[in-house]
Amino acid sequence: MPQYDYLVVGCGLFGIAFAQKQFERGKRVVVIEKRGHIGGNCFTENIGGINVHRYGPHIFHTSNETAWKYVNRFTRFNHFVNRPKVRYKDKLYSFPINLMTLYQLYGVKTPLEARTKLKAVVIPKENPDNLEDWVLSQVGPDIYEIFIKGYTEKQWQKEPKDLPVSLIKRLPIRLTFDDNYYNDKYQGIPIGGYTSMLRKMLEGIEVKLNADYFADKGYWDSIANTVVYTGKIDEYFDYKLGALEYRGLRFEDELLKGNYQGNAVINYTERKIPFTRIIEHKHFQFEDRPQTVVTKEFPKQYHKEDIPYYPVDTACNKKLYEKYRKEAERKKSLLLGGRLATHRYLDMDDVVLSALELAEES
Ligand code: FDA
Repeated sequence: MPQYDYLVVGCGLFGIAFAQKQFERGKRVVVIEKRGHIGGNCFTENIGGINVHRYGPHIFHTSNETAWKYVNRFTRFNHFVNRPKVRYKDKLYSFPINLMTLYQLYGVKTPLEARTKLKAVVIPKENPDNLEDWVLSQVGPDIYEIFIKGYTEKQWQKEPKDLPVSLIKRLPIRLTFDDNYYNDKYQGIPIGGYTSMLRKMLEGIEVKLNADYFADKGYWDSIANTVVYTGKIDEYFDYKLGALEYRGLRFEDELLKGNYQGNAVINYTERKIPFTRIIEHKHFQFEDRPQTVVTKEFPKQYHKEDIPYYPVDTACNKKLYEKYRKEAERKKSLLLGGRLATHRYLDMDDVVLSALELAEES
């Protein structure tokens, strides 16, 4: 009889939540992780008391009671609210676009003045079929230029005219002064960092770091009844039907003195600036310190050996993913979960909920 009920491949949030739930139910669980640390992309590294979000800024936000109650079992959250700013040609703007932004752009002071101004500047287009035309028809050229064009070109390394409308989905313009990025009921950052929360979730569970599933797949498969795989689905099948697309990222840190930018996140939307945002980590945790860690985030072309960050959501990728999913379904002792195995962008609350659901069903 195999030694474990579940082998969880990947010690990211999905793998951890799944393992936690099964362990709690008395199952025998082992988690393996190819990186040298737990937490996947939610990992925070403590540098001089500052919890550095190693793989990009992570703000937990949800309106789902189950997800919120679940994570609160393992940590307390602080009262951080995401209020990013936009810097464009040496001017700062309030973001997401709200009445303050429209005041900064046009001098309008009331919702009525703002609505009238927006109506006057839009460039109407019947059935716009690309991102540029759609945005111009919704908000006009100023907002397009300052907030969307350069940022989108950097992020996707494509002209907005060549991108589908679906990429942007919605462009919230608030005719209030509310600059809270999320509309969710709950929001915050784990006090002590994500790693500390995730470590608590893993209490009692066996974890093997620096262990790549594919380095010895036969062995790993033999030690458990069921494999819960949270890595890339195309890699699982050795890319035999083709490779799914991702966007890559690169981060550059600096350790500085004082207070660098006065906010956790500032987006740089100009095309000629190669990074998309600067994160100043200490502002996530409301503890002033003499030093500060700032991180520039650069979009980059993804190569197979890189960390895959954003699954590229195109019809072509969806089709390919479906083929892999069907192959996986035929394997009785294999379960898939998380953002890489489902090739979908998932927020942390979605990840927690889907892990709990899968644990419940299996
Ligand atoms: P994740 O990738 O974290 O974990 C998978 C793990 O499997 C990795 O550790 C990987 O190394 C491991 N693995 C893969 N193949 C393996 C193999 N062969 N053998 C062993 N191990 C293997 N969400 C949110 O709610 N609020 C936010 O503010 C943000 N911010 C944000 C910023 C950026 C830049 C990104 C890219 C994403 C976010 N997110 C977010 C999303 C968040 O990162 C995401 O929901 C979770 O990290 C997904 O957790 P998973 O466990 O699915 O994947």
